[in-house]
Amino acid sequence: MKFNSWGVSLILSQLQTVVQSAELGSHVNLFLGTENGGNNFPGVARPFGMVKLGPDLLSGNTDAYSGYLASGEFSGFSMMHEQGTGGAPKYGTVSQLPVVGNITDPLSNVTVSRDGADEAAVGYYKARTGDGVEVEMSASAHAGIYRYTFPGGSLEKNVLVDVSHVLPSFRGQGLSQGYKGGNFTIYPDGHYEGHGIYDNGWNRSPNWTVHFCGYFENEIVSNRSYTGTDESGSVQQDSGSAISSTGSTRVGGVFSFEDTTVVSRVGISWISSSKACQHVQDEIPAETTLQSVVSDAEVEWEDKVFSKVTTSSTNETSLTLLYSSLYFMHLIPTNQTGENPNWESEEPYYQDIFTFWDTFRCSTALMQILQPTAYEEQIRSLIDIWRFDGYLPDARSSNYNGRVQGGSNADNVLADAYVKGVRGAVDWNDGYRAMVKDAEVTPANSPVDSMAPDSSTKEGRGALPDWLELGFITPRFSRAVSRAVEYSCNDFGLYQVASGLGIEDDAAKYLNRSRNWRNHWNANQTSLGFSGFVVPRDTNGFISTDPVNDSGYWADPYYQANSWAYSLTSVHDMEQIIGLAGGKQTMLERLDTIFTPGASGSSGMIFDPTNEPMFNIPYLYNYINRQDLSVAQSRNIAKTYYQTGVTGLPGNSDAGAMQTWLLWNMIGLYPITGQTTFLIHSPWFESLSIDLGGDKTLRVTATGGDGNGGASIQVQRLRVNGRDWRKNWLEWNDIFASGGTMEFELGGEPSKWFTGEVPPSPAS
Ligand SMILES: *[C@@H]1O[C@H](CO)[C@@H](O)[C@H](O)[C@H]1NC(C)=O
Ligand SMILES: *[C@@H]1O[C@H](CO)[C@@H](O)[C@H](O)[C@H]1NC(C)=O
Ligand SMILES: *[C@@H]1O[C@H](CO)[C@@H](O)[C@H](O)[C@H]1NC(C)=O
Ligand SMILES: *[C@@H]1O[C@H](CO)[C@@H](O)[C@H](O)[C@H]1NC(C)=O
Ligand SMILES: *[C@@H]1O[C@H](CO)[C@@H](O)[C@H](O)[C@H]1NC(C)=O
Ligand SMILES: *[C@@H]1O[C@H](CO)[C@@H](O)[C@H](O)[C@H]1NC(C)=O
Ligand SMILES: *[C@@H]1O[C@H](CO)[C@@H](O)[C@H](O)[C@H]1NC(C)=O
Ligand SMILES: *[C@@H]1O[C@H](CO)[C@@H](O)[C@H](O)[C@H]1NC(C)=O
Ligand SMILES: *[C@@H]1O[C@H](CO)[C@@H](O)[C@H](O)[C@H]1NC(C)=O
Ligand SMILES: *[C@@H]1O[C@H](CO)[C@@H](O)[C@H](O)[C@H]1NC(C)=O
Repeated sequence: MKFNSWGVSLILSQLQTVVQSAELGSHVNLFLGTENGGNNFPGVARPFGMVKLGPDLLSGNTDAYSGYLASGEFSGFSMMHEQGTGGAPKYGTVSQLPVVGNITDPLSNVTVSRDGADEAAVGYYKARTGDGVEVEMSASAHAGIYRYTFPGGSLEKNVLVDVSHVLPSFRGQGLSQGYKGGNFTIYPDGHYEGHGIYDNGWNRSPNWTVHFCGYFENEIVSNRSYTGTDESGSVQQDSGSAISSTGSTRVGGVFSFEDTTVVSRVGISWISSSKACQHVQDEIPAETTLQSVVSDAEVEWEDKVFSKVTTSSTNETSLTLLYSSLYFMHLIPTNQTGENPNWESEEPYYQDIFTFWDTFRCSTALMQILQPTAYEEQIRSLIDIWRFDGYLPDARSSNYNGRVQGGSNADNVLADAYVKGVRGAVDWNDGYRAMVKDAEVTPANSPVDSMAPDSSTKEGRGALPDWLELGFITPRFSRAVSRAVEYSCNDFGLYQVASGLGIEDDAAKYLNRSRNWRNHWNANQTSLGFSGFVVPRDTNGFISTDPVNDSGYWADPYYQANSWAYSLTSVHDMEQIIGLAGGKQTMLERLDTIFTPGASGSSGMIFDPTNEPMFNIPYLYNYINRQDLSVAQSRNIAKTYYQTGVTGLPGNSDAGAMQTWLLWNMIGLYPITGQTTFLIHSPWFESLSIDLGGDKTLRVTATGGDGNGGASIQVQRLRVNGRDWRKNWLEWNDIFASGGTMEFELGGEPSKWFTGEVPPSPAS
């Protein structure tokens, strides 16, 4: 702790929050959504921390996206992970593994069995191995602490460090991380340093290097370093010599102890192993106890995250959903300021964007509200990535852009930040230049993505040649329809920023381009009795599709959602969509059909709660003045598909995207990213306060509800900042710019509380 002139009050306020944290942090279930594809990371981390320390499990050919699996054997406890992602695992790098007894072949994917379920709380993780070793962990931003409690007895008590350890992928799409070499040195005082080189891991990044520095607090009885290959097995090296490999030869070491309780402190760095040592000395110096790191982590989460949102609710289910969701949306992106291996800059640096395709709809908008300081840093970092790397990222990990699934969705994020007044130290002229690069310059197709070889998936807009020349995307490009729809939204983002900067010609051009999704609209395409869908097309005209059954993957016309979904994606042009679809009554029936089980012939509904492309759809009833149905459908989705248990998420968390969708449902609002609009539905709690920073607060209250227990969810009356409010939407300035209040009166039946002014459709 650093003392300054406020030292005393700082300590007092921290003491107070320790007490509070027992109240708020205790509601977090670290295992919520870890199974059934949720892929939540249950290990230890700080908000946006570079270190995410947790277990890595190996279980047959199951990909362990966050490292964790409910079953299987431990292959390590490693320091780098992503949160809730799919695609293919990334990281699992910088690991230790406790092993009891002789290790005959240390560098051969050694695993140890598990004894019972792991345990976790904010800032703390505990696992027990079949050898009877208890492994406890905590972390700071750039370092971690392990405490091993070995069983007594004469068997060797070892900690294995295998630099070649990664999270493998078994999906067979060429996305598994590779180990490409490393360096490992044991120093006379017993500490070790080195680095590992890896490649790939979903975003197809070339070689990346992570450095580490590990200390043991205990006397080492023996230490040995090894090299190994699958052919030769592990070969012990001369003690004391640095071992390095520039190929697939593995490097690592084994440390043995007499003590039954062994503590290790490890730092990581993207810059150098001496920086990794510096991190661990600064953040977890010698003799730091595990308990003090855990306490610091609790205090940090409380101060920076949990205390931002408070409610009067005492319903433990709701509180668990609320605080667990807040927790899991704050693990990535990673604040890597000062840890950028690729260029030197005074700007902040954040990476592990995995991915904007998932988070642009409703997560980044919530990040701005809850973390205005971090968010401004994140926006500056994006622009700096363009400055030095050439393009904004749609996704980025291991300091490398990729992969782009649809549009260049950083454009939506920048537009959203711009229209909602993010300024500070953001250079918006550069921000706009970065967006123009996306909109005008086709990225090189390198590296070629074997799953979509037609154009770049690294960054930018691979299908730009058709977009610029034709105003639509032909099937010579994969994902042609879904990319066209997303490019329209991206161009709308450029329109917003160009307008704000007073660049009128550009504004007119990009507004026009934002309507190009219409070029894919075939009024004659039918499905389930409805006409008019976005379809594939070439220069000869439309190509027919089956809108309920055309959802595909990288090589297909529609990516991960069907034409029913993508036909409703261009929310900036919603009035036009409603008109083309046949008017408000037809749109009502169309939306109802999306939520009707069995409507498409299969037993489920067209709506897909497991993935992001349909996130907006339950709320679109507001655009046809049926706010009551937005309330009913969205609440039904929230209560049916989000639970507190290990299977509590409907699909991959995707960097917290699922969690932010749920949080907006609790608040009673839904953001329309790229515009200042928020759609109003119905809040869960009698009272909810959000600390907006700078002494500003949003207070949402609800009378007449039933604590989210039953049917009293319909709005009877709403006052915003004390005045009667009769629109089903509001704007950033109404309640966020300076804070505000929303007072709902709820009841069981829909009412006519709104006058009928629907949300804006600026492109229509
Ligand atoms: C461990 O291995 C060493 C050398 O390979 C051997 O001498 C020793 O007996 C082994 N100890 C046990 C407990 O197996
Ligand atoms: C270790 O695991 C990697 C990645 O799954 C695999 O390529 C390698 O063949 C394995 N080696 C051994 C000795 O099992
Ligand atoms: C490995 O680390 C040692 C010790 O820091 C250093 O002397 C050596 O140059 C490194 N080798 C490589 C290939 O990086
Ligand atoms: C650990 O390794 C270092 C470097 O090889 C050596 O100087 C030291 O004596 C070793 N300690 C033990 C207990 O083996
Ligand atoms: C990655 O590292 C390996 C081993 O050090 C090396 O053989 C390979 O050329 C590197 N690849 C690139 C693209 O630099
Ligand atoms: C991000 O990291 C830098 C460097 O550690 C730090 O100065 C900055 O305050 C961090 N940002 C936030 C929002 O914590
Ligand atoms: C708008 O786009 C159409 C083609 O889609 C084009 O003909 C027209 O010139 C554009 N207008 C402006 C102002 O860019
Ligand atoms: C739709 O079908 C009608 C009637 O067959 C036809 O006149 C019209 O040209 C078609 N429109 C498109 C866009 O194919
Ligand atoms: C979807 O398409 C597949 C492959 O063409 C077909 O087997 C399946 O029956 C279709 N499902 C529906 C609901 O039309
Ligand atoms: C508590 O909240 C959950 C969902 O958040 C709800 O399903 C349950 O009915 C509530 N319990 C009571 C007693 O209101």
